[in-house]
Amino acid sequence: MKIMFIGSEATPFSKTGGLADVLGSLPYALHQMGHDITIVLPKHKVTKDKFEEKLTVEHTTTVPVKDKKEFVGYEILLHHGVKVVFVDNEYYFGYRENLYGDYDDGERYGYFSQAVVRYLKYIKGDIDILHLNDWQTGLIPYLLQCTKNSALNHIKTVFTIHNIAYQGRFDKALMPYLNVPYSDILEFDDTLNFLKTGIVSADWITTVSKSYAEELTYAYFGYGMEDLLKERQNTFIGIMNGINYDEFSPNKDSYIAFNYGIHNYLKGKEKNRQALLKMFHIEAGGIPIIGIVSRLAEQKGFNLLRDIIEDYLEKDRLKLIVLGSGDDDLEGYFDHLKQRFHDHVGVYFGYHEKMARQIYAGADFFLMPSRYEPCGLSQLISLKYGTIPIIRQTGGLKDSIEPYNRYTHKGSGIGFLNFSKEDLKRALDEAVKLYQNQTAFKQVKKRGMQADFSWQQSALQYEKLYQKLGD
Ligand code: ADP
Ligand code: GLC
Repeated sequence: MKIMFIGSEATPFSKTGGLADVLGSLPYALHQMGHDITIVLPKHKVTKDKFEEKLTVEHTTTVPVKDKKEFVGYEILLHHGVKVVFVDNEYYFGYRENLYGDYDDGERYGYFSQAVVRYLKYIKGDIDILHLNDWQTGLIPYLLQCTKNSALNHIKTVFTIHNIAYQGRFDKALMPYLNVPYSDILEFDDTLNFLKTGIVSADWITTVSKSYAEELTYAYFGYGMEDLLKERQNTFIGIMNGINYDEFSPNKDSYIAFNYGIHNYLKGKEKNRQALLKMFHIEAGGIPIIGIVSRLAEQKGFNLLRDIIEDYLEKDRLKLIVLGSGDDDLEGYFDHLKQRFHDHVGVYFGYHEKMARQIYAGADFFLMPSRYEPCGLSQLISLKYGTIPIIRQTGGLKDSIEPYNRYTHKGSGIGFLNFSKEDLKRALDEAVKLYQNQTAFKQVKKRGMQADFSWQQSALQYEKLYQKLGD
């Protein structure tokens, strides 16, 4: 089939989180299964900085934005057999350091959506499935419904929700910039809402794990979208993400200090542990290291650590290494921990691929106490690197990590159920205890390294869905 993926970030071209990992791997897995795949992305500044020389202009045009005509360049690159199309506009994407968070995000991604539909016209609708991702693409199925171009009528749309909390909500004053007829489909709670538009107008809705699909029909998780999703229950499913083991495997990762696999993981982990401690200027010691690599957003649950982690650090029971950026308050808190326990805590605020890999390879445990987690890829990466995830049992974390049971010795991680400090504390105690029982500790690690979360299974489920839509 001919499938076109649309999204705002994809590795190796741009990345702020897991969406980029998904769009940098699922399309390629489908390509390997014999499908004809295109990906359309904005040409961000980071993309330009790294790939400018490799891109070729395919054609240029304009799209109307309010009373102006805005330039669109379509620049292409063949990447591992997949055609990647970059939407080029210097003003909207070319000079901004951040992918999101500017005052005019509504206008920028409204423009991008129009540019995508214009591209579909350019290729005369020669695709079967348009696979859209997150709010940045939510307007597109509605734009398609409004178009009078009959070459586009047959295209079926799949809209994947990677995180329902980010909805693309904008003041109605944005309307004239979008170049679409008004309808209440565009609105939610008296504002324009791109994600809601996608939920209402796409042919099928998916999200990134089975548990999150179920959770999304409850108000606690649904952020206002729960009733709309309930209405769509016959055309809404959860498909768990996979990861690309060519990218994330300790035996081929060129970022880490020492490559290792299941045959020499004890030696490999130890060497990487030393390298990690050195990287963060922390003294060695025979106590477990907990690693964090994350956006520091409320969703991720790190506020639970406040007032409980101090005791572990003070009593020499744990070391903590944090890589991330986001919430100022949390950054301040981790900074304060670093000042207070400088021998036990390492922090780096920002995005850093090499450090991230060294944490996956060198830590003993990997912490994800998420309040909610649509899928989570970090726990899957940790498993592969022999680093035991400590997770709250929600969404994709619940679907991918079996909690360790001290009596049966089953499980691949440490789990806790309630979003509370008490439960997190119990999980940390469990981790310390597991570390002290080196036989069990090694068993759990090894089990994790052997788990298989490659894309195979999930790509088959997407293929089945596309085929159903195509019939
Ligand atoms: P989310 O998409 O909600 O941020 P995921 O677990 O799905 O969470 O994916 C996060 C991805 O981003 C992982 O590949 C993780 O390693 C990476 N990542 C997160 N923060 C950083 C950082 N500060 N530096 C490098 N990589 C990061
Ligand atoms: C979102 C979610 C994360 C998921 C990722 C990829 O960023 O927060 O849980 O893994 O998308 O689907």
